[in-house]
Amino acid sequence: MTTLGLIGAGHSGGTLAKLALAAGYDVVLSNSRGPHTLTDLVDQLGDGARAGTVEEAAAAGDVVVVTIPLKNYREVPVEPLVGKVVVDTNNYYPQRDGQIAELDDESTTVSELLQAHLPQSHVVKAFNNIHFTTLETLARPSGDPERTTLPIAGDDPVAKKTVTQLLDDLGYDTLDAGPLSEGWRYQRDTAAYGLYAGPGGMAEARRRGADEVRAELDKAKRYRDM
Ligand SMILES: NC(=O)c1ccc[n+]([C@@H]2O[C@H](COP(=O)([O-])OP(=O)(O)OC[C@H]3O[C@@H](n4cnc5c(N)ncnc54)[C@H](OP(=O)(O)O)[C@@H]3O)[C@@H](O)[C@H]2O)c1
Repeated sequence: MTTLGLIGAGHSGGTLAKLALAAGYDVVLSNSRGPHTLTDLVDQLGDGARAGTVEEAAAAGDVVVVTIPLKNYREVPVEPLVGKVVVDTNNYYPQRDGQIAELDDESTTVSELLQAHLPQSHVVKAFNNIHFTTLETLARPSGDPERTTLPIAGDDPVAKKTVTQLLDDLGYDTLDAGPLSEGWRYQRDTAAYGLYAGPGGMAEARRRGADEVRAELDKAKRYRDM
């Protein structure tokens, strides 16, 4: 894999781009306003980074990350992502995203919504439960004893393997949390959400290993039971 496509180039997308470039990937960034608005970010990121339209980023990526406000998920182009592995970082914040009935009644989950929108892609949920600053701070090379573990969820084992490799390249070990329908275990307001924040809050990094992540996933409660 050599190119990471990014749909969304904000806090999360920009940080993932930086980590991917450090790992030797090329990145193609995109946003809603068009590539001309990404010139400064691309310059800052340096060699290997370029901006494109959303369709270009989707087409260019060997793996494509969707990292936008959830309310806009239906704008993600379907056709260029057919057959691809799509990483979903998104979270549901009703005050930002408006009320989404299927999430409010918990008949589905955030990443299953994206999967339903992209029926011929292989969606894997990752990175949603770590703050972007912490994501940069805690990245460590493979084999480092201080490595942090992040959960992933997805329905396609091959796609999960690909994403495990991506996380390894970016600086993280992976814990398989199960199918997409189990992704709620690290959604907003669960114990595993923001697990990597220190006592001073989200921006303060705290390493977590696989056992700690598993324990928090096991403890997770649905919103209706909170
Ligand atoms: N911030 C974090 O630490 C963090 C951590 C984990 C997960 N998340 C989740 O990841 C997602 C992104 O968060 P963020 O903090 O990176 O948001 P952000 O800083 O507000 O950036 C959002 C990005 O999405 C782009 N965008 C919006 N609508 C789009 C569309 N229809 N097509 C293409 N690009 C679009 C925006 O581009 P324009 O400016 O051109 O509209 C912007 O580049 C959210 O769901 C968030 O909850 C965030």
